[in-house]
Amino acid sequence: MSVDASVDLGGIALRNPVLTASGTFGYGTEFSPFLDLRRIGGFVSKSLTLEPRIGNAPPRIAESPSGMLNAISLENVGVDAFIAEKLPQIPEDVVVVASVFETEVAGYAEVCERLTGVSRLAGIEVNASCPHVKSGGIEFGQDPAVLADLVRATRRATSLPLLVKLSPNVTNIAEMARVCEGEGADALCLINAVQAFDVDVETRRPVLSNGLGGLSGPAIRPIALRMVWQVARAVGLPICGIGGIGSAEDALKFLLCGATAVQVGTRNFLDPAAAADVADGLVAWAEAHGVVRLRDLVGGLEAQGS
Ligand SMILES: Cc1cc2nc3c(=O)[nH]c(=O)nc-3n(C[C@H](O)[C@H](O)[C@H](O)COP(=O)(O)O)c2cc1C
Repeated sequence: MSVDASVDLGGIALRNPVLTASGTFGYGTEFSPFLDLRRIGGFVSKSLTLEPRIGNAPPRIAESPSGMLNAISLENVGVDAFIAEKLPQIPEDVVVVASVFETEVAGYAEVCERLTGVSRLAGIEVNASCPHVKSGGIEFGQDPAVLADLVRATRRATSLPLLVKLSPNVTNIAEMARVCEGEGADALCLINAVQAFDVDVETRRPVLSNGLGGLSGPAIRPIALRMVWQVARAVGLPICGIGGIGSAEDALKFLLCGATAVQVGTRNFLDPAAAADVADGLVAWAEAHGVVRLRDLVGGLEAQGS
């Protein structure tokens, strides 16, 4: 039996539902020695800003039980260098989504405008986990009014499929999803890393130079599943599930909770070919279970007690 693995994520046609997550896969070029990029649905670039940035001082990553803490912040080559130097190295038939972040709404919109003329790009993912300077540093994705401004401005700035990546550091994720739907987002990606903190008792200092960091990896998977499940019940937009995915079984859980596609993040640091193996594993699972189209699994969670 041949399985149809293709899905449509808010207007982006993917050969299979497995992408790699922003900040964990560089600009694609770093990973091409380890896997054929055509084996995955596509990849999301490191978040891009108007100007190149160097990010936080080290230490900016640390191990944590079943996960990692990071506070890389804004380090990236800048949107223009991405377009001129990185994108041309990616084979034509690989789906590339550019992730965008800035500290002001106008900056996000300008990065989106610069990316819009680039025919090689399949879509834009707006990273709403960046601190908003005008709101005293809370994340864009933590305030419904600020998030609405951000989605409205980036929606106006681009005709490319617009994916909004939600912050998990909120009380009501469904409310944030509804805001994005109301402002014209094409799809939602969730979750980003969960705000976290750790301490070195010998130095009596925070483990990360920045103090606060983001927790990622298997430790956050049940939180991510809960949020995907809640968002799928709240909006009609397609969802890309993210958080601790390292196997086909993990990815399947997200599909069943309502995700159309998934992204593999932290796992790439342990196994650079992980996303391709997740994609192959999904097809093998479908074959073994007589599922003809992977997209038929989306939202297939049985109600409790049924
Ligand atoms: C080192 C590192 C850097 C990251 N950089 C970004 C980034 O630039 N933009 C973004 O939207 N998410 C970034 N993320 C978050 C991931 O894309 C992903 O949402 C999160 O890690 C949860 O998925 P995971 O548990 O599979 O890693 C980063 C994560 C890590 C671990």
